[in-house]
Amino acid sequence: MTSKASAPGKVILFGEHFVVYGVKAILCAIDKRITVTAEKIPDDIISIKSDIGNLQLQKNKSIDKIDGPLRPFYYLADKIIKKYDQNFGMQITVDSEIPLGVGLGSSSACCVAASAAISGVFEKISKDEVLQLAIEAEKTIFPNTSGADCTVCTFGGIMQYDKQNGHEKLEYKPNFHLVIANSKIEHSTKQVVSKVKQFKEKNEERFSQMCKEESDLIDDVMNCLENNDLKRIGLNMIKNQEYLESIGISNDRLRDMIKLANEYSFGSKITGAGGGGCIFALTDQSNMENAINQFKKNNYECFSAKIDFKGLDTF
Ligand code: PMV
Repeated sequence: MTSKASAPGKVILFGEHFVVYGVKAILCAIDKRITVTAEKIPDDIISIKSDIGNLQLQKNKSIDKIDGPLRPFYYLADKIIKKYDQNFGMQITVDSEIPLGVGLGSSSACCVAASAAISGVFEKISKDEVLQLAIEAEKTIFPNTSGADCTVCTFGGIMQYDKQNGHEKLEYKPNFHLVIANSKIEHSTKQVVSKVKQFKEKNEERFSQMCKEESDLIDDVMNCLENNDLKRIGLNMIKNQEYLESIGISNDRLRDMIKLANEYSFGSKITGAGGGGCIFALTDQSNMENAINQFKKNNYECFSAKIDFKGLDTF
């Protein structure tokens, strides 16, 4: 029997980096998905096929022995086989509409879709159970994950997250389009987060003032989301990007992209760790096409996305 599940990617609308120091962040699922197909096979192996490589290994290996980005898939398959039926192996195929490793939630979407698809070979489990397994799997590559990314990929829509209170889904349904552009510069979230830590340690007072301002800005964004005030959300994005510039996570290429995006949209900013990865511009029907054309004219890889309200889907 074949079991299939898909989960959306995400952007961080507001609050990356400051969230590490207690500020609230707002995340949003996007309608670009990762689909995982899982199937029982008679051999004693776990086999994974994906755009970022393939892996074929015996079952029952210690997870410490598995290197690379496909580790969460192995972890899930091995764990789920052990729970339900030791007599089989598993064939897993991953198809992605999301560029991988650029801060668009590909690893969380993989963990969520894989946890549902692999479990689904044996039994359909609830979204809460899928989420719990997905976070466990993601921790095999990002031990400090807050679980916020997996949560928004599972439930879809817009979500607020802060360290103290955890996640809460927001019921706002603003009507915007995002134009997402890829700098094609690889980044390591871990390295950029540690760079920001150094900045903070050298500029304690300034950083704490910025956290306060970011927090006020996000309070304002909450009202804007409720009222679908895209112009004001855009202005807040521009302001948020200035803070991200100040803490040193931008570079010339990202600055050029932001400048271009601000000319043709309501506002734009980096999403995620920065140092590379993606930026996104906020648009509606009236300016989306033009923003995309301008990026394409300047040879940037870009695509449009809407909010995904569905989250995890199983077939
Ligand atoms: O690169 P991403 O999209 O996984 O985002 C990292 C977000 C940070 O705030 C920079 C780090 C974190 O753990 O919250």
